[in-house]
Amino acid sequence: MGQGVLTGDPAGLAPGFPRVDGVLHCRGVALDGLARRFGTPLYVYDALGIEARVRHFQETFSGVDFLLAYSVKANGNLAVLNRIGSAGAGADIVSGGELHRALTAGIPASRIVFAGVGKTAREMEDALEAGVHAFHVEGRGELELLESVARRLGSPAPVAIRVNPDVESPTPHEYTRTGHAASKFGVPVSEAMELYRHAHGSSHLRVRGIGAHIGSQIVEVAPYTDALAVLLEMVDELAGEGLELEYLDLGGGFGVGYDGEPGLPLEELADALVPELVRRGLRLVLEPGRSVVGHAGVLLTRIHYVKRSGGKTFVITDGGMTELLRPSHYGGWHRIEPVRIDPKEVREVRPVDVVGPVCETGDFLARGRPLPLPRPGELLAVGTAGAYGFAMASNYNARRRPAEVMVEDGRPLLVRRRETADDLLRGEIVPPRAD
Ligand code: LLP
Repeated sequence: MGQGVLTGDPAGLAPGFPRVDGVLHCRGVALDGLARRFGTPLYVYDALGIEARVRHFQETFSGVDFLLAYSVKANGNLAVLNRIGSAGAGADIVSGGELHRALTAGIPASRIVFAGVGKTAREMEDALEAGVHAFHVEGRGELELLESVARRLGSPAPVAIRVNPDVESPTPHEYTRTGHAASKFGVPVSEAMELYRHAHGSSHLRVRGIGAHIGSQIVEVAPYTDALAVLLEMVDELAGEGLELEYLDLGGGFGVGYDGEPGLPLEELADALVPELVRRGLRLVLEPGRSVVGHAGVLLTRIHYVKRSGGKTFVITDGGMTELLRPSHYGGWHRIEPVRIDPKEVREVRPVDVVGPVCETGDFLARGRPLPLPRPGELLAVGTAGAYGFAMASNYNARRRPAEVMVEDGRPLLVRRRETADDLLRGEIVPPRAD
């Protein structure tokens, strides 16, 4: 990821977060006002930006019967899911918890695909009863369990096999690579063919589709066309055996430009996919997460202290790895901007480490980042934090997870209140001593 020097960028953070009179805004709402009103650290989402991305996907793939199954793991806030569902999208889920979230947010079960390598019988029952679009099966043992659950419930389970196409997927970190043979995800091609034949012959399974997801934050089209070629060969072979599939799901993983660079060219992807699917009468499903919500969210954090140590300058903020894990966990690079700049004021620009209050050396938002030297009490905004931001937040160090605000029609709406200290004790039990 890039290392551009973006200090006090007059243009702002992203299209939904421009700088107006020196202050970052979200659709007409000043971010410093939001920080005062709702406290920090604070997540701010741009509802219009999210809906615009959903529409952009729908328009780009309008040449084929298309379902956008938004990947709930990227940002599962109910309000966010609700707006995405209202725009006509479905959901890609990986747990019973995400099923509950998606249904509660109003996303119809018929638009939900259920992926994940470790589905339990209970999760399968709930999803089957809800009436999900399909289970994306990741192994033989899972298919057998699903068949027995479906038999018990007397309701055939809709299935697709998640294939491991064994393609190279250039992702910025090995943790987000899933399309190669040595990954825990998906089923190798030859075994997947056997599973299809078995499922086809079972009265408790209804074969609907085929899927793959090759990784996350991919900015090139080629790995997708490589995976597509593998899947289409299987589709054609199965059709030759009398097994006609309804849809092909190429997963998500479409990269975004964390440093303002272009992300994956969706139009180019559509040009490669659409004709192949139309020719075969297949519906297309995609499971984007980051590319729907990433740019539409920022994390606001206030500076506690600035201190020098060992030749370095540390900017100590009230947000860190517990609010945004990506820099620490994947070396993820996010733009960081002062929320307010005074164009007339000259400040020394020096490389700083922006670190959180958590007791870990790995607790940082940026390292060696050139910034106009900030002062305690000032605010920073971290860009492209709408995806895998709050979703990966934790209570480590007994930290209360932040509030989330969605700006819609020029109004800031609290869509999750900040956790209280008592929220963190919920469910814990101190047993009385036996004596
Ligand atoms: N479908 C499946 C089956 C997935 O496993 C994922 C992401 C997606 C779709 C959505 O991928 P996206 O379009 O958001 O790239 N926490 C990491 C990313 C992990 C992605 C896990 N799976 C990060 O912050 O970079």
